[in-house]
Amino acid sequence: MTDFNFISADDVDDVEKLAQEVLEIKKDPFRWKYLGQNKTLVLVFLNSSLRTRLSTQKAALNLGMNAIVLNLGQDSWNMEFADGVIMKGNTAEHIKEGAAVISEYADIIALRSFPSLTDRTKDYQEFILNQFVKYSSVPVVNMESATVHPLQSLTDLATIREFTQKKRPKVVLTWVPHIKPLPQCVSNSFAQWMNRADVEFVIANPEGYNLSKEFTGDAQVFHTQREAFKNADFIYAKNWSSYEDYGKVLKEDFSWLVTPGKMALTNQAKFMHCLPVRRNVVVADEVLDSDSSIVIRQAGNREWAAQAVIRRILEKRV
Ligand code: CP
Repeated sequence: MTDFNFISADDVDDVEKLAQEVLEIKKDPFRWKYLGQNKTLVLVFLNSSLRTRLSTQKAALNLGMNAIVLNLGQDSWNMEFADGVIMKGNTAEHIKEGAAVISEYADIIALRSFPSLTDRTKDYQEFILNQFVKYSSVPVVNMESATVHPLQSLTDLATIREFTQKKRPKVVLTWVPHIKPLPQCVSNSFAQWMNRADVEFVIANPEGYNLSKEFTGDAQVFHTQREAFKNADFIYAKNWSSYEDYGKVLKEDFSWLVTPGKMALTNQAKFMHCLPVRRNVVVADEVLDSDSSIVIRQAGNREWAAQAVIRRILEKRV
C-alpha cells in the first residue's frame, strides 16, 4: 500500500484547483509526454466500460506511459477477495498474490469494480477496492467502485467550469428513470465533489431514493424536479437504485424523464450525463440532441481528467 492513491474526493486537497489543472492539460496535452516514460499503467476491469477504459488508457499514453488492460476473470483467473477462505470454489487466485503480482509489472494500477447491490454494508465498506489497495505496492486509481466514481466527478466539475463564467453556478443532480437497478456511485461521487466545489448544489429525487448523507451532506433535496430546476445553470441527470431499500427499483416512475418542458424552467441550463444513456427513458431526444446538451464534450474531458490525476501521481502530488 502507498500514500499516492486516488480513491475519492478525500484524496484531493482542493477540487477546484485540480479541475483547473484538467482544463490546463486540455490546452496543451502533450507537454508532459516524457513524464511517464518507461512506466506502466495496468487497468484492471471487473466490469464493462467504454469511456473510462479509453480515456484512462489515452491519458497514460499522452504522458508517455505504457498502458495494459486486464479484464479480470475473463483474461485472467477468477480472483478470491476474502481473506482466510478455503479456496475450493471457482476462484483460482487470491487477491493477496494477484495484486502483489500486478504491482510487479505496474507503476500504477487502475481498478473498476461495481457494487453487488445486494449487500449494502459490504458495498459501502468498499471491500474489493480496499483489498486491492491493501495488497498492492503501487498507487491505485479508482475507475469507479462500489460507492464513488472520482474520475467522472473530476471531469464533471472541470466541464462545469469550462461552460460557465459564473463564480457560483446552480447545479442540479436529478434522479431519472431506468429499466434496471443501477449503482449510486456516480451520484454519490458527484454530490461529494459538488459539496466541495464553489457551486449552489441541490438534488431532486423521488421519495425513497435519498442518497447516503455521507455523500450528500447538507445539500437541499427536493422531491419534485419542477422546484429544483428553477434557475438552474446545469442539469446533471443520473439514475440510481434505492440506498434506503438497498439496490431496489421502488417504482418505474417515467414522469421523471428530462424533457424540453422541464429544461425550460431553468436558466438555459446545460444538460449533463456521464453516459451511457438510454434515450427517451432517461432524457428525451429533443434535449439530448439540442445545443444545451454537453454530454459529448463532457465525455471528451474524461481524458484530461485522467491525465491530471495520473500526472499528480507520477509527480507524487496526490
Ligand atoms: N461514464 C462512464 O464511466 O462510462 P463507462 O462506464 O463507459 O466507462
